[in-house]
Amino acid sequence: MTPVFVDFTNMMSSSLGGAGVAPEELGGALTEAFREAHADVEARRDSGEMGFFALPEASETARAVQGLADSFGQWFENIVVLGIGGSALGTTTLRDALLGPHWNELDEEARDHYPRLYVLDNVDPRTVSALLDRLDLRRTLFNVVSKSGSTAETMSQYLVVEGRLKELLGEDSASGHFLFTTDPEHGILRQIADQEGIPSLEVPANVGGRFSVLSSVGLLPAAIVGIDIAEVLEGARDMARRCSTQVLRENPAGILAALLHHSDVNQGAGIHVMMPYSDRLRSFAAWFQQLWAESLGKATDRNGIEVNRGPTPLPALGATDQHSLLQLLMEGPKDKVVLFLGVGGVTDPVEIPRIRGEFPALSYLGGHTLAELLDTEHRATMEALRQQGRPNLSLEVEDLTPRAMGALFMLFQIATVYGGALYGVNPLDQPGVELSKRLTYGLLGREGFEKPQLGTGEDSWRV
Ligand code: PA5
Repeated sequence: MTPVFVDFTNMMSSSLGGAGVAPEELGGALTEAFREAHADVEARRDSGEMGFFALPEASETARAVQGLADSFGQWFENIVVLGIGGSALGTTTLRDALLGPHWNELDEEARDHYPRLYVLDNVDPRTVSALLDRLDLRRTLFNVVSKSGSTAETMSQYLVVEGRLKELLGEDSASGHFLFTTDPEHGILRQIADQEGIPSLEVPANVGGRFSVLSSVGLLPAAIVGIDIAEVLEGARDMARRCSTQVLRENPAGILAALLHHSDVNQGAGIHVMMPYSDRLRSFAAWFQQLWAESLGKATDRNGIEVNRGPTPLPALGATDQHSLLQLLMEGPKDKVVLFLGVGGVTDPVEIPRIRGEFPALSYLGGHTLAELLDTEHRATMEALRQQGRPNLSLEVEDLTPRAMGALFMLFQIATVYGGALYGVNPLDQPGVELSKRLTYGLLGREGFEKPQLGTGEDSWRV
């Protein structure tokens, strides 16, 4: 059984004192809309468009990835992933969730002799230099991840790193520090890999960046740092099975998509706040943000009619954001749904000592663990929102295991494609990202791209 559960009690009218979804709506209009969405997704899946569904079944790929990780990967002290968006966020999420936020600071023994794992997902020069100056590049592997093999940020990072390696090690040795993850046939990375014999892995042609965490994109770095990728895939497989039914009440991804879509289009609650109560899942909220935003925010529907639709995902963190966002969530506009994400099985509890008992404002804390405090705040916040009539969903992960992460990834990927069908948009493309890419290429003088005229009007307004 998949160790992830979705509780939607606090979306229902019975819990929210009238606001929320009535049982007849869930059993009627939502069930009917979901049946159609499910059929649409199944048809697109059968036609081969939704390759992410098949990733957990790709056992040969997983074996090849594991083999590469166990051999080549272990020659290095550091692994640096160069990538952006869907080529980076899944890896960061796996690392933070399963190894903990301070993994790279541990000494070698505490890391079980696995390499450190860094993800460079921006071209801020200070960050790039700070990392490259600090690492021993002779002991570092760079996994360049780009489906298209043309993204300006990733390609620039690649060139910067290659330049440094060539300077340090000479022309011939630099290529031994690269591993490419890219399209099976297209793009410059594929061409270089083929010409120069650089080890490479494939991102299946029918798997887009934000749906690629369970492909070699996320699996290779995870396997190199000792994450059990077979378990990640097993969790994803289980979840895909649970989400195969067209019966809404039995399909967790269906419930998420149907309720969130309904809250947006029928109740004006189109801001979807992902709020894990675990530092280890902070990056998961960022992964969800990209998946939900880039997949569902679209100018046109699938018939080409202008609709300008899509929910707004907002990452948050419990309990930290109880002291930041919560005031707005409780009393601001009724345009939000909070998705709480809680983790059970927290081991190694830190007990709060029973000291300072003379102060009632402190003595009640003594004897509890920090895990208890976090969990209590989580439950109290859900209840506070409920009492205010504010809808919220509760996701529970039994334990933060590789299996649970696989299940969570698959759950939200499936919910996203159901969301695409419900909103009537294509969740697999991202045409809105293209214009800024083309303008960047033109401004930097890339062949085949015209230099654009910048400016919004005749006047310039500044203070
Ligand atoms: O989800 C997506 O498709 C995007 O976020 C891409 O992952 C991102 O733009 C990077 O693209 P690429 O992997 O082609 O370098």
